[in-house]
Amino acid sequence: MKPIQIAPSVLPVDFSRLGDAICELDSAGVDLIQWDVMDGQFVPNLTFGPDIIASTRALTKLPFEAHLMVLTPEAMASRYVEAGCSRLIVHAEACSNLRHTLETINALGVTSAVALNPETDASAVADVLDLVDLILVMTVRPGFGGQKYIQTMEPKIAQVRKMISEAKLDDKVNLEVDGGISVDTVAGAAKSGANILVAGSALFKDPKGLTHAVQQIRQTATASFVAN
Ligand code: DX5
Repeated sequence: MKPIQIAPSVLPVDFSRLGDAICELDSAGVDLIQWDVMDGQFVPNLTFGPDIIASTRALTKLPFEAHLMVLTPEAMASRYVEAGCSRLIVHAEACSNLRHTLETINALGVTSAVALNPETDASAVADVLDLVDLILVMTVRPGFGGQKYIQTMEPKIAQVRKMISEAKLDDKVNLEVDGGISVDTVAGAAKSGANILVAGSALFKDPKGLTHAVQQIRQTATASFVAN
């Protein structure tokens, strides 16, 4: 079974001090960094290109994953790998041939993953679990941070965990959730089977600081995590 991991989203940081924020997240004890890549078409927002990610790569040894909220994930996949991302997460909704896209990413020497929008059924990933090391169940509509956690996603989280367990892939495939994750919502997500928790605004608005925020979410998730 994969361990509980905390992955901050870089989306809410003050971009005028992006490098310092990456160092502060590292010091706060997170396990990896998630870059929310948006193309202004798949989602109505525009964020990080590979050069921005590459500019911070040397600041930390933490793994980088790129959450590609983009219409054509294969088009720039190699650029995000060159920028230092070791996992690329594509949206099932953006892929006409999901297996081919995942095989293309795996051939770049990194791991691939699939994200599911709230309206997309878990069955969309049923036949690609052998290719990935992570399934991301979105608990908000993609595009912006600071949204409310969609609690009705918990049965879908549990369904994906069940699919991973029935395929005997609990030691290979992570289940990640992203959107509205805080110390108040993480228990439900972890109880449903999520082991990687992506948080953005909840980390940065904790008055006791990043380290406290990371510890609180990790402790709550660990206490609640249930694998089937
Ligand atoms: C949505 C983004 C957000 C972000 C986390 O596209 O993926 O979910 O990472 O934002 P918070 O934690 O502020 O909801």
